[in-house]
Amino acid sequence: MWLNKKTKPAASTSPEIDLDKVPAHIAIIMDGNGRWAKQRGLPRVAGHHSGMRNVKKITMAANELGVKVLTMYAFSTENWKRPKEEVEFLMKLPQEFFPLEIEELIQNNVRIRMTGWKEGLPDYTLKAIEGAIERTKDNTGLILNFALNYGSRKEMLVGVQNMIQDVKAGSLDSTEIDEACFSSYMLTSDLPDPDLLIRTSGELRISNFLLWQLAYSELWFTDAYWPEFTEDLFLQAIAEFQRRGRRFGGI
Ligand code: FPP
Repeated sequence: MWLNKKTKPAASTSPEIDLDKVPAHIAIIMDGNGRWAKQRGLPRVAGHHSGMRNVKKITMAANELGVKVLTMYAFSTENWKRPKEEVEFLMKLPQEFFPLEIEELIQNNVRIRMTGWKEGLPDYTLKAIEGAIERTKDNTGLILNFALNYGSRKEMLVGVQNMIQDVKAGSLDSTEIDEACFSSYMLTSDLPDPDLLIRTSGELRISNFLLWQLAYSELWFTDAYWPEFTEDLFLQAIAEFQRRGRRFGGI
């Protein structure tokens, strides 16, 4: 028997997945980098580095399945509270990630996008991500959306403040503020809401991530730390999503 058990089926040929019911937008909270590193006697940042290397693998699997948007929680507005060295390391990751991966991402028609506040990010971080956004802006495949310096409460507060300003300026009629209008003031106004949220590392929290947008998303949790989150687990999450009945409040 010459079958190599380590050879994984390509994501799009997995018998578990119905390619007609693939979630259009998947959001991922990539948690557990620090614990993954600690378990191996490594510094926390080694976990972030390993986590970064995992981003492309899952992006490629998502792209192959026909997922339209993959939003990755890379840095929250609360993550600035971490030790200076760790923040600096995280801020330098785009500078390493894009030169390493951009050619393959381009070959696969992936478009880079960012959701979050540019203010406060170091110039080198912005330059790396904006360069990638510019180079991939005409691509029509999967949108790889990095939530960077993102926090959902701030997003909603700023959205409400902008609505009030527009009402005062006369460009928005307050009686027209409905859900669609509210969504249009979110940083994700051009994206569909996530169908599926995945969180790794066994934590069962949303952590200020896409609170408005996740209202009807299916939630899927795994104990695996992000650096060890495999394509197989990703397929399991999608298969489970496909087995659930989404009713959006109906019956
Ligand atoms: C949470 O794990 C993870 C983060 C705050 C960072 C996630 C970022 C990446 C995986 C890299 C992103 C890549 C690019 C190109 C921007 P944790 O540190 O909170 O883990 P712990 O809970 O075990 O301490």
